Amino acid sequence: MSRDKTPELTDIILKAAAKARKETSGEPEPELTRELSWPMQVELGPGLEGAIACESKIGYVNGTKGRLIYRGYDIFDLAAYSTFEEVSFLLLYGNLPTRAQLAAFDERLVACRHIPKTLRLLQGFPVTEMNPMAALRMGTNMMRQEVSYADRDVARPSPESAIGTDEDSIPMEIPPYGERRAKYEFRRRRAGLRRFRRAGEQLLTPPTGEEADYHLIAGTATVAAAVARIRDGHLPLEPDPELSHAGNFLYMITGEKPSTVEERIMDICLILHADHGMNASTFATMVVASTLSDVYQSIGAGIAALNGPLHGGANEQVLHVLEEIGDVSRVKRWYKDARAKRRKVMGFGHRVYKKLDPRARVLRPLAKHLARKNKQAKHLLAIAEALEKEVVASLGEKGIHPNVDFYSGSVYSSLGIPSPMFTPVFAVARVSGWCARVREYLKNNRIFRPRAMYTGAFDRAYVPIATRRAARKKPKK
Ligand code: SDX
Repeated sequence: MSRDKTPELTDIILKAAAKARKETSGEPEPELTRELSWPMQVELGPGLEGAIACESKIGYVNGTKGRLIYRGYDIFDLAAYSTFEEVSFLLLYGNLPTRAQLAAFDERLVACRHIPKTLRLLQGFPVTEMNPMAALRMGTNMMRQEVSYADRDVARPSPESAIGTDEDSIPMEIPPYGERRAKYEFRRRRAGLRRFRRAGEQLLTPPTGEEADYHLIAGTATVAAAVARIRDGHLPLEPDPELSHAGNFLYMITGEKPSTVEERIMDICLILHADHGMNASTFATMVVASTLSDVYQSIGAGIAALNGPLHGGANEQVLHVLEEIGDVSRVKRWYKDARAKRRKVMGFGHRVYKKLDPRARVLRPLAKHLARKNKQAKHLLAIAEALEKEVVASLGEKGIHPNVDFYSGSVYSSLGIPSPMFTPVFAVARVSGWCARVREYLKNNRIFRPRAMYTGAFDRAYVPIATRRAARKKPKK
């Protein structure tokens, strides 16, 4: 286990934890941790700020203290001592696994890494020209296909209805005999498909539940890695059953077996990103799940939401900002210009944290640790730290601090992950939290259906098009 072989990393995390506790001990504990009794009064802001969507035991973000817990465990302890497999089990089932439970869980995840049919389908699409998160979302739909329309003998149309269509035969009315390699196309495709689908529908293993969660937690890593490889002009790699989830994911992206330190840092990053309360992408997965769609479609919605630069997409944007600034000497001028244009600085600010994001507290020293022997990484990190100083000096009072996305890109770059894959890496980690929250919410499901405040007109008379005139532009307020 790479965790035991990298005491220097555990030490980095424990030091960050001690500093966090020292800096935030005095803050009050907000009252978002009590049993709910509906209906409840809250003060609401735009973007559902302040809204309580449901009760949950999965994770809690304390914005005033800058603390994060999963199922009662502090994120610093999980990052220091746990693994992504353990944390995924914890999020799904509520307790850390015993040795036997972890071995069984791990065995099923390793088996689910292997999704050749999905990868074959994926390679039929122009992945190199696609937004990597769009490709990842498409991959989850293909994974769903594998589960929901599984080729079942019973559902497969009978060969009698087949006609030969291989290259050296002409379409015939009777089934070809003898040619073992003849490819069959099913006659009366429409009826055939209808019959197949009808049979398939009855056989639809509902794409939800434990098997689907494992399939998604393991399979999205395989799909994301395959997207990275195809974008890089390579074929996807076979998963390595001997490696941990983090180690295998990194290997399948880079094509190199990671060092113990690299594997452990990838594992810590996956732990840090696994869950984070009712953020936009988690909420998106739950909204889709609340309609009793299925977990594959829910995870697809989460991936779509996470893609946005205000959310998970910020990690890639941060790297572009650091490259745009180009040198520590240009940070002050760049930031002054950004403020003048009221430009939001990617990787800073948070709807909940008004103190430094505890995940940034861990990612910053890990980025420095990896950059020790990497000139380019060191150069970009120096710019990042100078920018952090500028932003916090001017906006720290307003609660604007680095968030999880500010240093994660520096870490991923040093691990050999290309920047377009930063957000898919975030998604690969968050799938565990998404599955856990969907599973929890469905136990006491109610379809999400908020309202909008209608500020439009009433009682307008219908005017036939012949006499209709273009609406007069309202003067800007
Ligand atoms: C993630 O919700 C989660 O938990 C998300 C996440 C998770 O793990 O799931 O933590 C992951 O998404 C982290 C956030 C990544 N996004 C970014 O780094 C993009 C840059 N950040 C901002 O866009 C913003 O801070 C948000 C979107 C993160 C939060 O936006 P809010 O809560 O809606 O805040 P706001 O946009 O209303 O800003 C409030 C004030 C404004 O100033 P005023 O107009 O009141 O004068 O703060 C300012 C903003 O201009 N502000 C910033 C800023 N973020 C907020 N000013 C400069 N740079 C910024 N980054």
